[in-house]
Amino acid sequence: MELREAMSTLRAVRRLQSEPIPRELVSRLFEAATWAPTGGNAQPWRAIAVMAAEPKARLAELYAARWTDYAAGNRRLLADADEETRIAVGKALDAGDYLAEHLHEVPLIAVFCFDPKRMAITDIDQGRPSVVGGGSVYPAVQNFLLAARAEGLGCVLTTLLCQDEPEVKSLLGIPDGWGTCAHVPVGWPVRGGHGPIRRRPVREMVYVDGWGRCLA
Ligand SMILES: Cc1cc2nc3c(=O)[nH]c(=O)nc-3n(C[C@H](O)[C@H](O)[C@H](O)COP(=O)(O)O)c2cc1C
Repeated sequence: MELREAMSTLRAVRRLQSEPIPRELVSRLFEAATWAPTGGNAQPWRAIAVMAAEPKARLAELYAARWTDYAAGNRRLLADADEETRIAVGKALDAGDYLAEHLHEVPLIAVFCFDPKRMAITDIDQGRPSVVGGGSVYPAVQNFLLAARAEGLGCVLTTLLCQDEPEVKSLLGIPDGWGTCAHVPVGWPVRGGHGPIRRRPVREMVYVDGWGRCLA
């Protein structure tokens, strides 16, 4: 499919069927991930395609506990939001409930891992949370999401399980020194799948020649 169409319709798809994804297709999704840039071309990430019932069930159990807390907090905040936000966020939270209840059934959970020792983390001394290291993993995750979208597969980047990193590492045999940064459920959509997204316009996001002057 056309790249701009894929990018502009890549939304979170949380209602996924349990039908298996052919191995060759799973490989193709990860191949797209390997094409992403990384600092110094160090390629300091690996991914685990979790497809077996047992580890998926444990990941789902951990995820459901995290989601329940997260969703309750968000629903409380929604009480003060405007109607448009209440409707949009309410729908996303309902879809999130569905994912949390059905995560063990999805055919694939892609767990992305990184080795911080092999990352060029150039903002480490800035006295704020560092983000540059993530730049050597998340482009690979985005390529993976786009490849899934192009194949008509639904997916969503999730990070709630990063709070359970020690348990996830032990479950999947991830070595010492490695971290986890994304858990991506993938499957054929139950409903329409990808489609229109709500984002701020370019003029609110991008400035010209210094902070504050709009591009468009
Ligand atoms: C860094 C990051 C972490 C996210 N973590 C989760 C998550 O743990 N669970 C979830 O359901 N969605 C998660 N999302 C998906 C976002 O909620 C979603 O992309 C956003 O609300 C926009 O929705 P849309 O893509 O459908 O337009 C995450 C997205 C990003 C980029």
